[in-house]
Amino acid sequence: MATTPERKKITVPEVQAARGKRRLLMLTSYDYPMGLLADRAGIDILLVGDSVGMTTLGYESTLPVTMDMMIHHAKAVRRAVKYALLIGDMPFMSYQTTVADAVFNAGRFFKEAECEAVKLEGGVEMCDKVHAMVECGMPVMGHLGLTPQSMHRFGGFKTQGRDFSSAQQIIADAKALEEAGAFAILLEAIPDRVAKLITERANIPIIGIGAGPSVDGQLLIVHDLVGFFDKFQPRFSKKYCDLNKVIGEALGAFKSEVESGAFPGPEHCWTIKDEEFAKIK
Ligand code: KIV
Repeated sequence: MATTPERKKITVPEVQAARGKRRLLMLTSYDYPMGLLADRAGIDILLVGDSVGMTTLGYESTLPVTMDMMIHHAKAVRRAVKYALLIGDMPFMSYQTTVADAVFNAGRFFKEAECEAVKLEGGVEMCDKVHAMVECGMPVMGHLGLTPQSMHRFGGFKTQGRDFSSAQQIIADAKALEEAGAFAILLEAIPDRVAKLITERANIPIIGIGAGPSVDGQLLIVHDLVGFFDKFQPRFSKKYCDLNKVIGEALGAFKSEVESGAFPGPEHCWTIKDEEFAKIK
């Protein structure tokens, strides 16, 4: 009888070895139940993204998210995940200030939440931080293109790399991050041909979210994928189911059954023997 091979834990070297052999799968995850489901589904990389601020905490941007919030969510996902590579996302102002701040805060993800890598936004200007983290044994994923922590510089959540100088900058940033020791790079919302060029020139995995099909792997924000965020739907996302509708219908059914008296039914109640009840009465 054929046996199924035992599932392997995904590590940083595993992610790097997958480049060119198979497409990598990456999702965000912010809590225990979604971590469990994503790990069961065979997702390679789980990012505890600072997008938690918008999808789960109700902020208008990722800027208010703090290290303590990120650690709280990363710990919950850690308890769920056995196989996927777990990455903690460095929130705004946890690494931009100094190399020492960057290394200290990255270290919190490893010590307190047992993450296996961190992600940070930015290119050439972040290379000293990336290098220092890698020197301390902490793998780093870079993030270029529409980096949401720079939304005020961009004037909103705007596609990047659509003209010569902006595309050239992203290409140069990708090379610089690779040279600084990043193990992979995430490209967000840039033209597919620019992403293809970066992927062809890179020696490390390039993951895309809104970067077309020619990269080494795809990331989606899980709340977009399952239809659990309805403030806006980014063009790059795809809704595979409508959780808002499913949950809305379930809550509506609960409301009408309580109002009509149909819930709770006998199967939801406990009994007491007549003689015991008689003593109370
Ligand atoms: O926080 C996050 O989920 C991210 C993705 C948008 C790339 O950084």
